[in-house]
Amino acid sequence: MTERLDLQGRHIVLGLTGGIACYKSAELLRLLVKAGATVQVVMTAAAEQFITPVTMQALSNRNVYSSQWDAREPNAMAHINLSREADAVLIAPASADFIAKLAQGRADELLSLLCLARPAETCPLLLAPAMNREMWAHPATQRNVAQVVADGARILGPGTGDQACGEVGDGRMLEPAELLEDVIAFFQPKSLAGKRLLFTAGPTFESIDPVRGITNHSSGKMGFALARAAAEAGADVTLIAGPVHLPTPRGVKRFNVQSAQQMFDAVVPQATQYDAFVATAAVADWRPASLSEHKIKKEGKKVAPTFELTENPDILAAVAALPQPPYCVGFAAESENLLEHARAKLQRKRVPMIVGNLGPATFGSDDNSLLLVDAQGHRALPEDGSRVDKLTLARALVREIAQRLSSQTA
Ligand code: C5P
Repeated sequence: MTERLDLQGRHIVLGLTGGIACYKSAELLRLLVKAGATVQVVMTAAAEQFITPVTMQALSNRNVYSSQWDAREPNAMAHINLSREADAVLIAPASADFIAKLAQGRADELLSLLCLARPAETCPLLLAPAMNREMWAHPATQRNVAQVVADGARILGPGTGDQACGEVGDGRMLEPAELLEDVIAFFQPKSLAGKRLLFTAGPTFESIDPVRGITNHSSGKMGFALARAAAEAGADVTLIAGPVHLPTPRGVKRFNVQSAQQMFDAVVPQATQYDAFVATAAVADWRPASLSEHKIKKEGKKVAPTFELTENPDILAAVAALPQPPYCVGFAAESENLLEHARAKLQRKRVPMIVGNLGPATFGSDDNSLLLVDAQGHRALPEDGSRVDKLTLARALVREIAQRLSSQTA
């Protein structure tokens, strides 16, 4: 599988201001470059107290700028030259002092000067605040943050937790991987802005006794990728997840459940509040008819126990049968005759779209290929039927869903 380069072709000015979180900016730079971006680092004098320009130069493979008097620029206008090339300026860490300067439009050193001089329409400003919790909570900082947001800046974070000063609270810079996810999301088209989407993902676990149960090989990766892609596209996303070991995509509200019944209870009563419901979960069709209160012991038993099974409720069919259902998308994991089975499922569940995939080839895997089936026909994602990573597929499927939602409301 080829590596996804989410920031290929993007040029980012990464600005560092004075704060201990500067040590994380080296890792952030590395991640931005690995994602395909070219990165121009600009540092304030205070930032250089925390990390050297040499580190940032080596990682970006470019000279680092820190002075508006830099003689390397022939026209002596680093603030103009650097910001005209950029697709975004990302300040990480953004100190309380630097945000205060931005709020006032001050420009007494290169980084604040280039923020002021950048073409705001084409070069957005992203700020990752990093400071002590009292500094972050101070009315002056909150006033300045509100001002820079009103002026068009986007605030990423801050995070919550342990601080270098020993205190605990709001104000930590987001982790480099989180910032990368936010920057990538920032550049995605907002085809689902203002929409609410509900997803199920992962397997269910149907208990036999307190230590055993029936489950399946679903990893939840496709559902989590779809939830991420929908959030990147600007949707308000809720994810009902079965037992999986996956981090929650940024900006997604996640609720964990175990059994099909719990998933049903988490989904069906609230489903009409959403514009679309996407059922990617591999829900167990049956569960043990009765749950043993204690572990079923092997000792003293001559014959193996047998289990009576009872059918689980069908979550997708129940949502589709609601009086004013959201736009419903089901998944079909098959081992053969994908199109035939997907079409049959479309009819049986009475949903407008079924996405088929080959179960054994997708479970746990990082890539996949999909067959999208609706009343109009069918098409492969990607078009040539090859395998691509699940986030790329998820973005393509989100575009398809967004088109259908907007033609519904048009
Ligand atoms: O019923 P079947 O497993 O063939 O259909 C799969 C689709 O139905 C998936 O979208 C799955 O999430 C959904 N489903 C459900 N509740 C069930 C069984 C399947 O929502 N009990």
